[in-house]
Amino acid sequence: MGTREAVALPLLPLLLLACTAVHAAQLPPYLSKCPARERVQFNECVLRQAQKAVDHLGSQGDRKFGLSPTDPIEFPLIETDSNGFTLKFINLKIATDPPQAYKVDSVDMDLDRKHLDFAYSAPALNMLSKYETDGRILIVPVKGDGEALLRIDGYKAKFSADFDVVKNKQDGLDYVKLKNTKYSSDVSKVSYNFTNLFNGDQTLGKATNDFLNSNWKDVFEETKWSTFEAIRQFMTSQIQNFFDRVSYNEAFAQ
Ligand SMILES: *[C@@H]1O[C@H](CO)[C@@H](O)[C@H](O)[C@H]1NC(C)=O
Repeated sequence: MGTREAVALPLLPLLLLACTAVHAAQLPPYLSKCPARERVQFNECVLRQAQKAVDHLGSQGDRKFGLSPTDPIEFPLIETDSNGFTLKFINLKIATDPPQAYKVDSVDMDLDRKHLDFAYSAPALNMLSKYETDGRILIVPVKGDGEALLRIDGYKAKFSADFDVVKNKQDGLDYVKLKNTKYSSDVSKVSYNFTNLFNGDQTLGKATNDFLNSNWKDVFEETKWSTFEAIRQFMTSQIQNFFDRVSYNEAFAQ
């Protein structure tokens, strides 16, 4: 007993070091290399890999590459606080409908300009969350806490980034480092359903949901920014985590 502990304890820091400092340096088995060649072919290859990655990650992710599940995506807390209006989404889950329906529509990865653009979409998203809200949205007072069910139809998203290619001192290999990442999306419709508004007052609750739905465009404009920011951070860390483990040459060498 005593000896096993004595041996195990000094090993622990070494194991932790091995897990954090060493790059995996190989592509995951479900992806293949995209040799940097003629632009159109290269981008078609990157698009195929991006779609394979999204399809593979699904509800499981890939811990070895620091990749979270993509469908559903979970956010512990998203907070909006502006002009006396507060809205918290707690344990927000964003799932495509039908499930696993993200489609990568276009990719442009410019290795010379070191710029990445891509677009993806889904027929619909269901967002399910606990919520707390207080204040005025547009002109209407809202207050409550309960479940929020949001449905987004015609979801189209864009992500862009610049990147540097930086040599890692430990292994001497080059790695992609993202910067100036941006995310935005367009939707064709949003439906809101906040349960238990005004302590469960049915009349007020229904009137408020009806107002939000009749004015969904303005409500979405007012409330989207903190969710956009959370998705920008999520996308950035997915892609960065991948490129922290897979070197530039492993992904793109001839
Ligand atoms: C809102 O969600 C509740 C709880 O799931 C459901 O009972 C209700 O029918 C929904 N209302 C609308 C208008 O979809």
